Amino acid sequence: MSLRGRNFIDLADFERFELRQVLDTAHDLKRKQKRGEPHELLKGKSLAMIFMKSSTRTRVSFEVGMTQLGGHALYLEPGGTQLGRGETIGDTALVLSRYCDVIMARVYGHNEVMELAKHATVPVINGLSDLLHPCQIMADMQTIEEHKGNLEGLKITYVGDSNNVSNSIMQGCTIMGMDVTIGSPKGYTPSDEMMKRATALSTRYGTTLEVVSNPSEAVKGADVIYTDTFFSMGQEREKEKEDALMPFQVNKALVSKANSEAIVMHCLPAHRDEELTSEVMDGPHSVVFDQAENRLHAQKAILALIV
Ligand code: CP
Ligand code: NVA
Repeated sequence: MSLRGRNFIDLADFERFELRQVLDTAHDLKRKQKRGEPHELLKGKSLAMIFMKSSTRTRVSFEVGMTQLGGHALYLEPGGTQLGRGETIGDTALVLSRYCDVIMARVYGHNEVMELAKHATVPVINGLSDLLHPCQIMADMQTIEEHKGNLEGLKITYVGDSNNVSNSIMQGCTIMGMDVTIGSPKGYTPSDEMMKRATALSTRYGTTLEVVSNPSEAVKGADVIYTDTFFSMGQEREKEKEDALMPFQVNKALVSKANSEAIVMHCLPAHRDEELTSEVMDGPHSVVFDQAENRLHAQKAILALIV
C-alpha cells in the first residue's frame, strides 16, 4: 500500500515497512541534494503551515524542503489568520484544502491536529503537538542510521521529562526494532496511555521497553542517549520539576556510563547546561546538528510520499 494521501500525525499509525520507505527516501533525497541532482517531485504543489507556537527548525526545514521539491510553502500564524479571531479549525481545514495540497500544523492540544485532519481533504502532517513529534523522530532515526549503520537491536535511552518527543521515540524506535529505555524521575514518566500503546508495539515487534528511575542505570549499554528540555512549550517553569530532573542531566559522567561509542541526541532547542551540558553538546558524542539537518531530508521524504 502506498503512503499517498495518508496523514502523518502519529507514528503508531504506520507499519515498519512504511517507516522504512520514509527513511530510505530520506537517505536518497539527502544524497540527491548533496550532489545537486534535481528532485522536483512536488512541482507546483503548496504546503500550508499553521504554527500555533514558535519554531525555528520545523518552519525553516519545511519551507526550504518544499522549495527544493519544486513546490511552495505558506507560513500561517494564528494572529495573521482568522483562526485567531475564532474561525473554527474545521472550517479552516476545509478552506485550506481548496488551495493547498498538504497541511502541516504545530499545535498545543493533540486534538487540534486531529480536528484539522478530520475536516481536511488533503493530507495533514503533525509538526508537533503536546503529545507527539513524529517528524522529529523520523529525522532522528535517519541520523542514527547514518552514524550506526542500522536501527534494529540498538538500545536508545531517553533521559529527562517524558513528553511529546519521548512519546514518539517510544513508538517510532520500537516499530523499527530498537530497544527503548526511558530514564525519568517519579512524576515525570510516560502516561499510562502512552505506555500501553508503546508496550503493544514492543510486544508486536519483539523489542524491550522499560522505564527506569535511576539515570546511570538507564543509560547502561545504550547506543543512543537522547534528552530534551525540562519544560516544553506551554509549560510553566517549576522549581520542583527542575530539582527532580537535574540528576538526569546529560553530562560527561552520565555519557561515560553508556557504550563508549554512544551518540548523544537532542531535538533542539537545547537549554545548555540544564538538560545537556555544553561540554557534551559540543563534544565528540554529539550528533545534535545532524539531527537538525535531517529534519529537512526526512520531511521532504514524508511530503514526497504522502502528497
Ligand atoms: N526540534 C524542533 O521541532 O525545533 P523547532 O521548535 O525549532 O521547530
Ligand atoms: N518537547 C519540546 C520539543 C520542542 C521541539 C516542546 O514541546 O517544547
